[in-house]
Amino acid sequence: MKERFYVTTPIYYVNAEPHIGHAYTTVLADCMSRLYALLGYDSYFLTGTDEHGDKIDQAARANNTTPQEYADRISGIFRSTWDDIGIRYDDFIRTTEKRHIDAVRTILQKVYDRGDIYFGSYGGFYCVGCERFFTEKEMVDGKCPDHDRKLDYIEEKNYFFKMSNYQEWLIGHIEKHPDFIRPERYRNEVMALLKSEALEDLCISRPKSRLQWGITLPFDENYVTYVWFDALINYVSAIGYPAGEKFAAYWPAVEHIIAKDIVKPHGIFWPTMLKSAGIEPYRHLNVHGYWNMQDAKMSKSLGNVVTPKNLVDRYGNDQIRYFFLREMNFGNDAKFSEDVIIDRINFDLANDWGNLVNRLLNMVAKYFDGAVPPFDPAEPAERDDLIARFAAARKEYLDRAKVFQTSAGLERLWEFIRYLNKYIDTNRPWQLAKEQNTTRLGSIMRNLLEAVYGIAVLLSPVLTQSSEAVYRALGAEKKTRDVEKIGSFDLLDDGAATQDPGILFPRLEKTATEAGAVKKAETKKQGGQKMEQQTEGVVIDISEFARVDIRVAKILTAEKVEGSEKLLQLTVDSGLDERTIVAGIAKWYEPETLPGKKILLVANLKPATIFKRTSHGMLLAAKAPGSDQPVLIEIDDSIPAGAKLG
Ligand code: MSP
Repeated sequence: MKERFYVTTPIYYVNAEPHIGHAYTTVLADCMSRLYALLGYDSYFLTGTDEHGDKIDQAARANNTTPQEYADRISGIFRSTWDDIGIRYDDFIRTTEKRHIDAVRTILQKVYDRGDIYFGSYGGFYCVGCERFFTEKEMVDGKCPDHDRKLDYIEEKNYFFKMSNYQEWLIGHIEKHPDFIRPERYRNEVMALLKSEALEDLCISRPKSRLQWGITLPFDENYVTYVWFDALINYVSAIGYPAGEKFAAYWPAVEHIIAKDIVKPHGIFWPTMLKSAGIEPYRHLNVHGYWNMQDAKMSKSLGNVVTPKNLVDRYGNDQIRYFFLREMNFGNDAKFSEDVIIDRINFDLANDWGNLVNRLLNMVAKYFDGAVPPFDPAEPAERDDLIARFAAARKEYLDRAKVFQTSAGLERLWEFIRYLNKYIDTNRPWQLAKEQNTTRLGSIMRNLLEAVYGIAVLLSPVLTQSSEAVYRALGAEKKTRDVEKIGSFDLLDDGAATQDPGILFPRLEKTATEAGAVKKAETKKQGGQKMEQQTEGVVIDISEFARVDIRVAKILTAEKVEGSEKLLQLTVDSGLDERTIVAGIAKWYEPETLPGKKILLVANLKPATIFKRTSHGMLLAAKAPGSDQPVLIEIDDSIPAGAKLG
């Protein structure tokens, strides 16, 4: 029988629409669910909405509607947002559903029957935003530190859950299972709370005279359930507690994911509730940090919301998933910045991974007519070394990703991707092609194709769409995704037809004018038309310069472009590949004088079509003031093609 993996997000309040913070947690849970499915687990992913309580009641009133209508609307928006951004959840629970209400009442009754609930009087400072009472110690200047709002003193008769009955048990449980709450700092936070003093009993009811929007207590009609006691139970109600196959199958193999804002309810209320109800504790509580915008907690009241849907429409689904999962170190806060999104897309996705896939498939098309070349055992081309490197990268990636450290895992996998790009550069396949060393060339291509397939499989929980595109491009749609087997480098079929997947991750330009807005890099017409260049007096950042890949290239052939007076078509060895460029130098240079010269090439310029020819880069030439004549910058022969400037 397959091992089980059950992952949950918090159920989100329906008093506001989904934002980046919610999207991150949900994308992370989605990625983990796909990752474990890939690893052969029976994986189950739950998300949903938290719909009872003061906060929703008040939001509905403010919108002149009933809480149920309001909850229906916002819950629908959460659901459609997740559908729009490609989240593949197995179930979506709403706390207003009957299955949930029944489970809450069952648990309340159990806890009550056990003697862990009593009726008492309580006075305290209450924050409507947080839906909870604050102790004096937790208040800051009489205010709730999260909502910056003065707290109201409320006194009323209520029901209480004796959490302290389970305090010693919980301390012992955490000591026995040191990663029960992870990363460690959040476990320490919970332990400090548990060890500092006796836990206060938890007020778990609200009188109906004050609030009707909740689940009626099974043992007192005049009260509804406190929203946290209600909400936490979603994790078991959704899988059919107290009966049902799903509950038996997936509990307690559960991984809760939350942010640091709700550690106390999940780290203390929930395990003690479970214990009292006679349910096994969850397996792990996985706590991530906050996405901060300009150092502030992102929330609607602070007015700095970017919607997840906008973001995905603007940058692409895989791009945003990659940004989220690469940019946030699990447990720490991260800064949300569209600048960084663009950098991650341009550097990691376009330059490293996309470029590897595209250049490899171009070479296979060019040298082998697009058919997967056979591997030649007599000329293995570092195959064993690559297999060992792949296995090491896979292990380090999976070891980290499995414990939610997606960023550290991806970083390690990217080192291998960069290594493969270097493997191409040092082996110079275009040279081997010229020498007609087809056996070595074939083995190199085959090694790379197998490695790219393996990486696409490993990345599939993160890059859900482009991995599929890579499988198609490699003619490997029907191949196994078994993470062990992909390490054999022996999966693709000799002669299988590959295809050009197109540019997987188009590069993006940052526009300086409108912070955060981007436009896709436009192809400017070169050659015949003059390019506007106003560079004098413009100061650029070193990082802007660093984006320009200038390399030494050797001119191999040169010929006139028919029908044009100005243009020459050149082939050059860029050190990366052999490529064609079109340059407006025909008036000043005879083609036969050029082969053998080493010049400077802007290698990462977006290809442009000029006179029906595609130019892959631009030569650098200087023009004296007042002159039109371009003079090629020539480079000393001691510097090899491919040497980078900078
Ligand atoms: N309804 C409760 C949870 C009940 S779970 C039984 C709740 N809802 S919430 O809508 O406020 O969602 C809080 C969660 O949203 C966080 O724990 C986190 O998963 C996510 N985030 C909200 N803002 C966030 C950031 N700025 N950054 C990262 N995650 C954030 O609390």
